[in-house]
Amino acid sequence: MKRILVIGATGQIGTELTPGLRARCGGENVIAAGHRREPGTALREAGPYAALDVRDRESLAVLVTTYGIGTVYHLAALLSAAAEARPQAAWELNMNGLLNVLEVAAAHQCAVFFPSSIGAFGPSTPRVNTPQLTIQRPNTIYGVTKTAGELLCDYYHRRFGVDARGLRFPGLISHTAPPGGGTTDYAVEIFYAALRGEQYVCPLAPSTRLDMMYMPDAVRAAIEVMEADPAGLRFRNAYNVTAMSFTPEELYREIRRHLPGFSMTFAVDPVRQAIADGWPEKMDDSAARRDWGWAPGYDLPAMAADMLEKLSARLEGKGRMRNAE
Ligand code: SER
Repeated sequence: MKRILVIGATGQIGTELTPGLRARCGGENVIAAGHRREPGTALREAGPYAALDVRDRESLAVLVTTYGIGTVYHLAALLSAAAEARPQAAWELNMNGLLNVLEVAAAHQCAVFFPSSIGAFGPSTPRVNTPQLTIQRPNTIYGVTKTAGELLCDYYHRRFGVDARGLRFPGLISHTAPPGGGTTDYAVEIFYAALRGEQYVCPLAPSTRLDMMYMPDAVRAAIEVMEADPAGLRFRNAYNVTAMSFTPEELYREIRRHLPGFSMTFAVDPVRQAIADGWPEKMDDSAARRDWGWAPGYDLPAMAADMLEKLSARLEGKGRMRNAE
């Protein structure tokens, strides 16, 4: 069996996609790679781990040949707000990293998964029911790298036969790995504050509606699109996928149904707000539904209930560990 390589395995998506793939394909068949020398024990003990800087094409090629890799999930990237603070670093990681992955994939006949984003759209894109094919004029460096990444993946498919496929993810919400540097991070941070009994200071205005998805759906979508029959794929990079759409105010009200004492105030971050104002409120994901059977499992109430349950267990576990030290 050809093995799978997950690049960015210690990041927001990789932390959950890697165990998902290992449960499905066997721990030894999924190689986790990240920039950290020492990942967490769960990742290290469940299968092989390699430290990798994806900007180093030679090391990537060695990894692919050593392990006989057939599919690469390439997740390493700077998120939107972090990229805005360091545009050149974002280009180097998000673009040159992807170029290296596609070059190595072309040389070694690997399939490639590329996560694009709502960030691949911009202020001139329709924000409601954003079509699969529409105007893409992003005005952030993150969006520029995502749009260019989509096109580069399609180019390598057409020109060199690389089986490159991708999804445009909305904001992703997870209780496992914190995102870091994204515009949609508030939708994760708010749960930590609520469970710690703290007031949450939201960096986006109360009515900022954005497209969102719970991580179990995102992991399943990534695996499903890579396992889909290629004959049915009218698009490759990248399919719109969505699950829910809400404002900070609506998320706050949903959390308060479980934790009535929770409170939130606002201190709008102009950088994040400007980014969010150019992103879709909700994408039209009918092409993904039709072509490979995409269907989300979590809406806002289901996601919030599961987040609160899982995150509170995790935070309690950490508290117990601290007390025992
Ligand atoms: N969640 C990402 C961000 O906020 C968007 O893809 O940057």
